[in-house]
Amino acid sequence: MSSYSMAVIPGDGIGPEIIPAGVAVLEAAAEKFGFQLSYENFPYGAGYYKKTGRFMPDDALDTLKGFDALYFGAVGLPDVDDTLPARLFTFKVRVGFDQYVNYRPARLLPGVPGPLKGKSPEDIDLVVIRENTEGEFVQSGGLVRNEFPDGMATDMSIFTRKGIERIAHYSFQLARKRRNKVTNVTKSNTLIHSLAYWDRVVEEVRQSYLNVDYAKMYVDNASANLVLYPEKFDVILTTNFIGDILSDLAGAITGSLGLGPSGNINPEKRYPSMFEPIHGSAPDIAGKAIANPVGAIWSGALMLEHLGETRAADAIVAAIEKTVAGGILSVDLGGSARTMEIAEAVIANL
Ligand code: NAI
Ligand code: MG
Repeated sequence: MSSYSMAVIPGDGIGPEIIPAGVAVLEAAAEKFGFQLSYENFPYGAGYYKKTGRFMPDDALDTLKGFDALYFGAVGLPDVDDTLPARLFTFKVRVGFDQYVNYRPARLLPGVPGPLKGKSPEDIDLVVIRENTEGEFVQSGGLVRNEFPDGMATDMSIFTRKGIERIAHYSFQLARKRRNKVTNVTKSNTLIHSLAYWDRVVEEVRQSYLNVDYAKMYVDNASANLVLYPEKFDVILTTNFIGDILSDLAGAITGSLGLGPSGNINPEKRYPSMFEPIHGSAPDIAGKAIANPVGAIWSGALMLEHLGETRAADAIVAAIEKTVAGGILSVDLGGSARTMEIAEAVIANL
């Protein structure tokens, strides 16, 4: 029997509500499909920071490295400096474990009232592939003359050939397994150094995939197109910052941010990959047991797919579809089902 070890990091806000819902579904899937899943909980995040002065212990990555995968909620609390969570937790894990692919599928599920008029599930089925370890989010920069009225601030973007090449290869290879189309989204007409370089390297990589449909689009236009013609997109290949924004937009056009799953993936499996819903800790609805657990549950399915349990992963996604198509919807989708009720319905549909 295959067995997998999972580090579970619920995090803050609704994290400790949606992640147990996801774990319950994963346990049910393991039982049904005959594999073993062991897990250990880690209390890292902004709450942990308030108690210890750290988002996670200094040796946390050494500890986490021993697991097959990380299953994560979100970090951040209103009373903790919001420049810290990404720096002290999320990016540390993404960079430390070389999770250079941020994989974010967005699909309109049958039965979900999406916000776009006249669009059906066939029209919205795309994946945002966001470069996850460099670009605009390297956090290199600083404040200059901060003590004077006219201060200055910089954040430098860093793009490397290696970083662009590997995310481009991943995107073209993924497209071949889907509808065979890559849209490269940048803003190389104005970021004429970094993103023009990105486009050039993508163009070079593309020469190895000339049978894949390819389009280039600027991010402003891509935003408009995602709302007007989402059917144009299959795989969106993009940078860290642009991908962060477009994947929330892609989540929104599928009905709710609460539905979107993601994987922070190290494709070579040299390090564990991390799976998390695309949303944050949603402190505005935390503690009410009404958070939508679908993004977290679906992220669990992505994790199983990455681990090689494809049948179980597909079954979870099918069970999610059946659940929402059956009208079991959370508050953010206009329903009244509570977090654990949705998880239980998904388990029943498995
Ligand atoms: P958010 O995604 O937490 O919330 C945005 C809106 O969507 C809120 O109205 C929220 O109630 C709603 N929402 C989000 N997830 C939902 C769910 N599962 N079910 C129902 N409604 C849901 O984004 P926001 O408000 O910008 O950030 C809140 C905190 O989360 C901040 O501290 C931020 O830094 C952190 N954050 C952490 C992330 C991570 O750990 N990967 C990612 C994004 C934000
Ligand atoms: Mg985001």
